[in-house]
Amino acid sequence: MGKGVSNKNVFASKVGAVLAAAGSAVGLGNIWRFPTETGTNGGAAFILIYILFMLLLAMPIMVAEFAIGRHGGHDVTHAFEKMSGGRRAWRWMGLLPVVCGFLVLSYYAVVAGWALYYTYEAFIDGFSGKTPEMFTADFVTFSSDSFKPVFWMVIVIAMTCGIVALGVRRGIERGAKIMMPLLFLFILVLVGCSISLPGASKGLTFLFKPDFSKVTSSVILSAMGQAFFSLSVGLGCLCTYACYFRKDIDLMKDGFSVASIDTLVALLSGLIIFPAVYSISGLQPDAGPSLVFITLPNVFQQVFGNIPWLAYLFSLIFYLLLVMAALTSSVSMLEMSAAYFHANLRIPRPLAAVLVSVVCVLLGTFCSWSFGDWKDVTFFGMGFFDFFDFLVAKLIMPIGGFLMCVFLGWVVDEKVLHAEITNHGTINSPFYPVYRFIIRYFAPICIFLIFANELGLFDLLPKG
Ligand code: ALA
Repeated sequence: MGKGVSNKNVFASKVGAVLAAAGSAVGLGNIWRFPTETGTNGGAAFILIYILFMLLLAMPIMVAEFAIGRHGGHDVTHAFEKMSGGRRAWRWMGLLPVVCGFLVLSYYAVVAGWALYYTYEAFIDGFSGKTPEMFTADFVTFSSDSFKPVFWMVIVIAMTCGIVALGVRRGIERGAKIMMPLLFLFILVLVGCSISLPGASKGLTFLFKPDFSKVTSSVILSAMGQAFFSLSVGLGCLCTYACYFRKDIDLMKDGFSVASIDTLVALLSGLIIFPAVYSISGLQPDAGPSLVFITLPNVFQQVFGNIPWLAYLFSLIFYLLLVMAALTSSVSMLEMSAAYFHANLRIPRPLAAVLVSVVCVLLGTFCSWSFGDWKDVTFFGMGFFDFFDFLVAKLIMPIGGFLMCVFLGWVVDEKVLHAEITNHGTINSPFYPVYRFIIRYFAPICIFLIFANELGLFDLLPKG
């Protein structure tokens, strides 16, 4: 166990560690962002590219984060220093998660707040009897309000803060052990309902029949961004959790489990959403971010209109699912920054969690206002919210992933990496050579090429 890590700061069980990491991965990215990106990027071809990126880029980088965090075992800044063989200069890499924790939680909590508000609306049966126009008008009115969405966002951040303040075992691990199985149960119920709808097959075709003529460089960049976002890699989230991993965890095997759970949840979310959308003639899957908050509540009402209790239940379960998934991820985001302040400023964990939360509420308020009062305030042509999303998913995550590869593949002593992946030679890792090749050559070159293409340095693919 690393310096400064007490027993209660280590996940008690392997299952707890995998569920916590899966909880960090599975979130709005799977249920809100994945269908949105799939819808706007043409469907099945996007999904195939996304899965490829998941296997060849995001998952290996996740294992890299696991290795760095567990080897360090204290907090991420120390983890980078220790993994580099004691070179203090590498501590700066560990500041990446600290800064990213603020950035990502600030805009993530806005959407999680919307989900919580929609759960409340579903609970009080606020959707029944509404026309499609009313759903659009209500969402626009709600999201552009100066106070309401901020209020729901604050509740989400407060719940997140409460879980983080409870600590690694009593908060994060216990929360994941309760919420993740429930999440699966909810998903399975909803998939069952959705694919039995009339017209569902069109949704299945959209999801599973690829049309590669729609693939452009922007589709590729989006697929890479989505794979990174979905697994929370490149930010240092998983590196932070890995600081609490036990020494007997098989990083490759458990990394594969986390990536499989995450991909499965994304695909199942697609199976909930697209058959439902296609079961109503005239609706299109490319409604963008409003898909989950305008199209879906409308779909639930229209599809189950004859059986009001089913419409009520379907809506309530769906939004509850969204909130739970968001919470298990937002906990890992807050933990990234809070753990740093707790460990380095030596302030109590609850105080660190509260301090980070206050800053996130402030930044989150700006993001929320970018849908209303501040919609004309732009950075590079984007509002606060879109700018944060672009910054995190399309820039920081891939660049962070690139740096992790360079660090692990070129800076870290190969013996240290081998010892971490094979648990000091106690487990057989037949894929280790392939893994090292991916981390050292394939992943960094691939990320570089996709960026260079997008920036117009050369044209491998048509611009989207
Ligand atoms: N991985 C997290 C999600 O998918 C950020 O929501």
